[in-house]
Amino acid sequence: MKKLLSVVLVAALGASLLVCAGCTQQKSDLVMATNAEFPPYEYHGDDGSIIGIDAEIAQAIADEMGRNLVIEDMNFDSILAAVQSGKADMGVAGMTITEDRLESVDFSTPYATAAQVIIVKEGSDIQTPDDLAGRTIGVQLGTTGDIYADDIEDATIERFNKGFEAVQALTQDKVDAVIIDNEPAKVFVAQNDGIKIIDEAFTYEEYAIAIKKGNTDLLNDVNAAIAKLQESGELQKIVDKYITAE
Ligand code: ARG
Repeated sequence: MKKLLSVVLVAALGASLLVCAGCTQQKSDLVMATNAEFPPYEYHGDDGSIIGIDAEIAQAIADEMGRNLVIEDMNFDSILAAVQSGKADMGVAGMTITEDRLESVDFSTPYATAAQVIIVKEGSDIQTPDDLAGRTIGVQLGTTGDIYADDIEDATIERFNKGFEAVQALTQDKVDAVIIDNEPAKVFVAQNDGIKIIDEAFTYEEYAIAIKKGNTDLLNDVNAAIAKLQESGELQKIVDKYITAE
């Protein structure tokens, strides 16, 4: 019996060696936390897979690092906790660098600039950010839009898990305006009749990748990969695939 067992073991070992002779070294996972409700940065493609600028940049970074990208989709306001706890290696979610967030995570070098803009119904009397005082404003929970709305005098804030839901509330007259990032705003306005972006932007911001404080190895690797993708023009190529210059 013992002999049989060792024969089986040797055979199994041989087989596994054979199998692995042709296989490349196992890549370790690089887990990205995101909220795939934010086109064109991250959203669900027709087949349900997560696509967009961030998904492709993260894939390119993982490729640079020789690691296997794994995307974890969650609520936007759960991303920082996922990074802090180590459940995810990095948060890639069109995430704006803010002083507050810098207290809990580190940020990579910025890879995009953005703005918070205001979406209203066509014909709305809201024409500038100042006109938002006393109005009902829709935002995505935990975003910079939410944070800025909080500062508007006498405003009522309706918080949604998805930016798209805030836009829906606007088309249904449940809110007077939506504060959201400029590129998703353009996508949502193109998808819905009767709404528009007002000319004056609210704030200017920078997007970067969130990494657990103290994980300087990963931060350095991610920054090196971003620099390389910027220099090679690969990053711009990814952006151009999703955003057509006006
Ligand atoms: N830039 C804004 C922020 O950092 C909104 C980001 C929302 N991203 C998302 N994937 N839903 O707060």
